[in-house]
Amino acid sequence: MKTIQVELGLRSYQVHVKSGLIEKIPVLLSKNNHGQKWVIISQHGLLELFGFELISVLRRQHFNIDYVTLPMGEAAKSIKEFSSIISQLSELGCDRSTTVLALGGGVVGDISGFAASTFMRGIEYFHIPTTLLAMVDSSIGGKTGINIVAGKNMVGTFYQPKGVFVDPNILSSLPRTEVIAGLGEVIKYGAIKDADFLREIYTWLNDIDSFPFEEAIRRCCEIKAGIISIDEQENDLRRILNFGHTIGHALEAYLGYGKIRHGEAVALGMKCSSWISERINNFSNKDAEYLNAVINKLPLPKIPTINADHLIPFVKMDKKSKKGNLNFVVLDCLGNATICKNVSEELIRNSLEVLN
Ligand code: GLY
Repeated sequence: MKTIQVELGLRSYQVHVKSGLIEKIPVLLSKNNHGQKWVIISQHGLLELFGFELISVLRRQHFNIDYVTLPMGEAAKSIKEFSSIISQLSELGCDRSTTVLALGGGVVGDISGFAASTFMRGIEYFHIPTTLLAMVDSSIGGKTGINIVAGKNMVGTFYQPKGVFVDPNILSSLPRTEVIAGLGEVIKYGAIKDADFLREIYTWLNDIDSFPFEEAIRRCCEIKAGIISIDEQENDLRRILNFGHTIGHALEAYLGYGKIRHGEAVALGMKCSSWISERINNFSNKDAEYLNAVINKLPLPKIPTINADHLIPFVKMDKKSKKGNLNFVVLDCLGNATICKNVSEELIRNSLEVLN
């Protein structure tokens, strides 16, 4: 098993990555079981697939464990569902010693982490991510949150889990297209931090059906853990994780949530950001073409021609902007990213041409 350390002093934790790991979770958690109440927060389908079996094994090993079910989709990250989780934790007799297991993708992880960070001023939680995006990104780094009318993730905390258990075998229970769509985020890690990894991804994508997910996930987790260990609260370095996201998020909002998958939108956002990097940051044309070649190996959706006048307002809403200035991530070269605070609206508009 590969164990990756997120180094945060007394709040340090480990990310375990191994195919078949879900069966080992009871053993790995046994040292954390002191007779307290445990609660799995998940969705019905995931409980049917993995959760109920995990609960039975944990109960046999003397864990006092219950579960809370969330609805499917982004709607689950609401104040209403947050309030429902808190009420259920209370009804189940949870107290400050309770430990939460968040079994699911980014939605489940974000709201479960937020509930754990606020219930009785904070209780322990572990992530068991079930999507590629959650495995390589949202389960690591302690960003928790819910959505409000004013925007996604507008209410949240930085609150680190006690550990993360990544079982790449879980991906085989997902529709293949969903998993492949998440590869945009995997490419991002190569682009921002590891050119050799990017070259490996290029080769692996020649035969997407044999993509070595475990190896790729492990490398992404190592990169993310390294970044979080340096800049937990996104004051500086952590921002590079948003490469491709400013335009990617805007595309998701412009096209309508559910019309394009997050990883696909990030892939398209990276193409625009790569074009911008070439113009303002001496990113070489050779590197830009290479990154595009990697991205083009993904089966990306055909999107309608973008109306820049309609998309730009979504770009400006990016919550990473400070005092009206966007923190736009650009590349210096493959494997090296930096933040640029003066990317003009015109440049962003022009970059959208690469999507047509
Ligand atoms: N998903 C980006 C981050 O965790 O900072």
